[in-house]
Amino acid sequence: MTANPIPAATSAARDLFEPARLGPLDLPNRLVMAPMTRNRAAADGTPLPIMGEYYAQRAGAGLIIAEATTPSEVGATYPNIPAIYRDAHVKGWRAVTESVHAAGGRMFLQLQHGGRIGHPETSGLQPVAPSPVPYPDPMHTPSGSRPSVVPREMTVDEIRATVEDFANAARNAIAAGFAGVEVHSANGYLLHQFLGQDTNRRTDAYGGPVANRIRFTVEVVRAVVDAIGAERVGVRIAPGVTANAMAEGDTEAIYPELVAALAEIGPAYLHVVFADPDQALFRELRAAWPGTLIANPVLGWGGPLPEDGGKAAARRLLAAGADLIALGRPFLANPDLVHRLRTGAPVNQVRDYGLMYTGGAEGYTDYPTLSDSDAADRAGLTAAGA
Ligand SMILES: Cc1cc2nc3c(=O)[nH]c(=O)nc-3n(C[C@H](O)[C@H](O)[C@H](O)COP(=O)(O)O)c2cc1C
Repeated sequence: MTANPIPAATSAARDLFEPARLGPLDLPNRLVMAPMTRNRAAADGTPLPIMGEYYAQRAGAGLIIAEATTPSEVGATYPNIPAIYRDAHVKGWRAVTESVHAAGGRMFLQLQHGGRIGHPETSGLQPVAPSPVPYPDPMHTPSGSRPSVVPREMTVDEIRATVEDFANAARNAIAAGFAGVEVHSANGYLLHQFLGQDTNRRTDAYGGPVANRIRFTVEVVRAVVDAIGAERVGVRIAPGVTANAMAEGDTEAIYPELVAALAEIGPAYLHVVFADPDQALFRELRAAWPGTLIANPVLGWGGPLPEDGGKAAARRLLAAGADLIALGRPFLANPDLVHRLRTGAPVNQVRDYGLMYTGGAEGYTDYPTLSDSDAADRAGLTAAGA
């Protein structure tokens, strides 16, 4: 693979805090809140008002990409994740987008089918996947941790129906007030399962050579683009990422071919997880992708957030040709992250990883902004002085 240097002109003028255009949106800055599953929806997937509060708190992001949301019943991954295939889901999401818009924010919705990452105790259905290859570890379900089940291999008719589910979900997302959707082809969920050799052992037109393994993602993206327009669609990929026991095998072959096929369809953006500007594949994909590239830097998974909240890593990626920078945990723990990064103020660390996927306000809507902290300090001083 050739390491294509990024032409200097593309990186010259970019700064994190300057505006950018994305599809139909004018973004006030180049910071994107990465999609993060928080399991705060109702059991049937209907978004709850607390989700509107959480996202509105983070409306300072240039763009919010709302958490993975299932386009169908069988696509559900974990308990209390949101859905977007019934009227009640659309209504619940509409209240969320209205809260965010009222706070001045902009929002896309991530569409995710879990594939083998799902469980009958969560969805009531046997999970489906490219091939009957089970996830090796136990799965979180409403009744606790349960052994994963062997997924059922999707028929070609089911594949076509699933493509349609994504298109319908995208229409629903627009009806719910989102500016667009992000197709989740990353992190070991259904679309990624089709891309990888270990999870896709099919011998039909959807398995085998790379041209076949990318077919499902390409068909989903094309259908979603046809449904709502290319400028309202993004695609998330995670080259080489082993989340959810993914083993792609031929990463270096998959992504150049996938990205070339997506470029022909022309969605508004490509979003790369764990983007590393020193990696030849990242540079190759940047050079090959003609549209907006959102890069999600490597901040050190499992450890504390960098003291600068990811600003240096973000700037390195901008200099390497990324257009927008997605940050996950820094936004989770800092409702006013953009203000903190702009002013160089310290960032809150994630308080308790145990609260990421539990219900309720704790560890969700109760992270302080700087002005909350200032007010608390002032109250402390007043109390101390009294
Ligand atoms: C609590 C949590 C939930 C996540 N859920 C999703 C998700 O729904 N969809 C997705 O594509 N990535 C998800 N991710 C991954 C993030 O989008 C992001 O790629 C990852 O956290 C790395 O970025 P960071 O180091 O800035 O946190 C999640 C991460 C966290 C911490």
